[in-house]
Amino acid sequence: MTENIRPVLSGSKALVVGIANEHSIAYGCAQAFRTAGAELAITWLNEKARPHVEPLGAELGASITAPLDVSVPGQLENLFETIEKKWGKLDILVHSIAFAPKSDLAGGLLNCSAEGFAKAMDISCHSFVRMARLAAPLMNDGGTMFAMSYYGANRVVPNYNVMGPVKAALEAVCRYLAYELGPKGIRVHAISPGPLKTRAASGLKDFELLLNEAAKKAPVGELVDIMDVGYACAYLATSFAKRVTGGTVYVDGGANIVA
Ligand SMILES: NC(=O)c1ccc[n+]([C@@H]2O[C@H](COP(=O)([O-])OP(=O)(O)OC[C@H]3O[C@@H](n4cnc5c(N)ncnc54)[C@H](O)[C@@H]3O)[C@@H](O)[C@H]2O)c1
Repeated sequence: MTENIRPVLSGSKALVVGIANEHSIAYGCAQAFRTAGAELAITWLNEKARPHVEPLGAELGASITAPLDVSVPGQLENLFETIEKKWGKLDILVHSIAFAPKSDLAGGLLNCSAEGFAKAMDISCHSFVRMARLAAPLMNDGGTMFAMSYYGANRVVPNYNVMGPVKAALEAVCRYLAYELGPKGIRVHAISPGPLKTRAASGLKDFELLLNEAAKKAPVGELVDIMDVGYACAYLATSFAKRVTGGTVYVDGGANIVA
């Protein structure tokens, strides 16, 4: 399939945040952008994650690699300073990160603490606003921003708990950012992938059941993979999609249309 992808993103600079390992949705995005000709900046969470992420960055020829924990003051600013110095611009931003404290995720929404709720919201949602604020001034020729949502934003998915309201907020954030940044030629998308076996997903109770149900429910009859998500983002980042913005784009084999 990859040999049919033309370098429609050559000259584009893409920052992809959220690669933990080769199963990460962010890695699918980075691979798809690279295949389409973009130059990459990628990040790792901390020194423990670094040995898993750095080799993937090398394989993709990433020209910027940097640490980024969005809860550490100054790290996001440092990253964007590096991007400005090295590239002087940015075309694509991917926010593919989420976190909720285990005890707050496991206990159902009723039992989620105020601190756990705030932390989940800060890392999984408001950090996208902070990224967008720093990215927008570098997107002088327009640009595209992505944040990863999930079906649990709009419908109750058992065990998704606090992440449901957090993803609902993230989708609303995408709409409002699309409204505010549209006049600058910047488009903002929430991407809603079907369930994928990743590190983040392993924190959800009965995730295997969700995978089985998704495969059964999807009209295309199979699960999605990280490249499906990556290529959908690559398309949305091209000028072929220049008048598409603000919505939630499902990459789930059509599962969301089935009752
Ligand atoms: N896996 C699924 O089924 C699925 C479905 C729909 C949406 N999503 C969303 O996709 C996104 C990516 O998750 P994934 O499934 O690829 O799992 P993943 O574990 O591979 O990626 C999650 C990433 O979040 C990063 N992260 C956590 N806390 C952070 C912080 N403080 N600062 C910076 N980065 C931090 C981790 O380092 C990791 O790279 C998440 O937003 C997730 O909610 C996942």
